Amino acid sequence: MTTLNLSSKDPARLAADALVIGVRSDGASATVEGADFLSRSASESVARAITLLGVTGDTGQITRIPAGDAVKADLLVLVGLGSAVEDPDGRRERLRRAAGSATAALAGTGHVVFALPTEGAQDAGAVAEGALLGNYVYDRPGTTKDKIKNPVGTIEIATAARGKAAKDALARAEVTANAVHGVRDLVNTSPNLLYPASFADRAAKAVKGTKISIKVLDEKQLLDGGYGGISGVGQGSQRPPRLVRLSYSPARAKRKIALVGKGITFDSGGLSLKPPKSMETMKSDMAGAAAVLHTVLAAAALELPVAVTGWLALAENMPSAAAQRPSDVVTIRGGKTVEVLNTDAEGRLVLADALVAASEEKPDLLVDIATLTGAQAVALGNQVGAVMGTDAERSSVAEAATRAGEQFWPMPLPEELRASLNTPTADLANIGERMGGMLVAGIFLKEFTGGLPWAHLDIAGPAFNEGGARHYVPKGGTGMGVRTLVELLSAVGR
Ligand code: BES
Ligand code: MN
Ligand code: ZN
Repeated sequence: MTTLNLSSKDPARLAADALVIGVRSDGASATVEGADFLSRSASESVARAITLLGVTGDTGQITRIPAGDAVKADLLVLVGLGSAVEDPDGRRERLRRAAGSATAALAGTGHVVFALPTEGAQDAGAVAEGALLGNYVYDRPGTTKDKIKNPVGTIEIATAARGKAAKDALARAEVTANAVHGVRDLVNTSPNLLYPASFADRAAKAVKGTKISIKVLDEKQLLDGGYGGISGVGQGSQRPPRLVRLSYSPARAKRKIALVGKGITFDSGGLSLKPPKSMETMKSDMAGAAAVLHTVLAAAALELPVAVTGWLALAENMPSAAAQRPSDVVTIRGGKTVEVLNTDAEGRLVLADALVAASEEKPDLLVDIATLTGAQAVALGNQVGAVMGTDAERSSVAEAATRAGEQFWPMPLPEELRASLNTPTADLANIGERMGGMLVAGIFLKEFTGGLPWAHLDIAGPAFNEGGARHYVPKGGTGMGVRTLVELLSAVGR
C-alpha cells in the first residue's frame, strides 16, 4: 500500500529518499520550474547539472543527481515537464505525466517528495493523481515477490495549497487512482483466472462494506429473462455468462445514471475465429465492464450525489460444439431479433441485452463503454478513445475527458449506415458495412437505447498498452475511461 501525504513545509528540509523537481523545456535550454525553495548555491549546481548532463526538459525525462548538501533528501530527481502550457486542463495533464514518469522510474524507492509547480489545490491533486497512476505494479499471482519491484512506498506532495480544498483534491486523486489500478488489475488478470463467474465474485467482494448493492443473474436466469444476446455469446464456453447489476443510490441523488460495460473475459472470435495474433490481447475485452465496476466503486467512495447503476455484461466468446453459428438468429431482451452473421461481433450482442435492461429503469442518462471495434484503433489509434451518441451527451463526455486528462474524440452516427444492417431473416444483422466499422457498431447499439440520452465509448485501442510504458501509463491494462466516467458523474452531481 502506498501512503499519500500533503506537506506545506519547505521541500528542501523534508527528509526523503528522493525529491522530485520539474524542469521545463524552453526550446534550446531547460529551466527549473517552481523550485524557488532551493538556495542560491543549490540552484546554481542544478543549473550546472542541466548543462553538463544535457537535460532538455522533455516530457517525462528523468535525471537523478546526488543531492549533496543542497536539500535534505538523498537524491534530487529532475523530471521533464515539456514546454509551458497556458490552459489549466493542459497544465494539470502535464503535471500528471511528469509525476507519473517519476514514480514509474523510482519504483523500489521508499519515500519520494514531489515539489512540482502547482497553482492551487487542483494542481496539487493532479500531481498526486499522476504520481499514483505511475506507481502501478501488477502483483502477478504466483510470482515470487522478489522478482517484482515494489511501488514507491510514500508519496509526499509538497505544495503551497492547503486546507480543505487541497485535502479534498488529494483524497479524490487517491480514489480515482485506486479505481484505475483496479481496472488495470482486472484487465491484466489472465483469462483462465478471470471468467464471468469469477468476475462477478470479484465484484461482489469489492462492494462488500460499501453502499453498493449487487445482483448477479446466472446463465439460467439470463435465458429465463430473455437475454438472448448474452446467452448466445456465452453458450460456446464451459464457463457460463453472467449479468451483474450494481446500484449506488444515495438519498440526495440529483440524477439517475446507468453505466453499461462490455465484459468479454476472452474473445477468441467464436466460430468466426480470430487469427492467433489478434487473440493475444483479447483478455482485455472486459475492460469496459471493469471500468464500470470501478467507476461505481469510486462514486460510492466519493459519496457523489448521483444514483448510479452499473451493468456488467459478462461472457466468454469461445468456439465449441455448443457455440452459436454464423447465421443464428437470437432474440435480444425486449424482443428485437438479430442475425449473428459474425460471431466475432459479440460485444454489441451482450451490450444490446444490457442496454435494454438498463433502459427499462428509465435513467436520465445511459452510458456504455466497450472495447468494441478494431476500427476504433484504426481511426484514432491507441491513445484516443471514441465517443458517439446523442449530441449533448457526446459533448459532455468529451468535455469531462478533457478535464480528467483522458482523450475521447466525438464521432458521428450517420443514419445512412443503418441500411447496411438490414437482413431478411431478422430485425437486424450484427455486422454491416465494413468501412466505418466503429460507427456501424454504434448505430447497432443505438437500436437498443430506447431513445434515451446516451453516450457510447469505444476504447478498443487505448484499453490495453501493447507498447512500452509511457509517463503514467504502464504496459498492459491502462484503465482507460474510468477517469472520464468519474468526472462525468461528478459534474452531474455538481
Ligand atoms: N473485441 C473485438 C474488438 C477489438 C479489436 C478490441 C482489437 C481491441 C482490439 C471485437 O469483439 C471484435 O472482434 N470486433 C470485430 C467486429 C467485426 C467482426 C465487425 C472487429 O473489430 O474486427
Ligand atoms: Mn469479437
Ligand atoms: Zn470483443
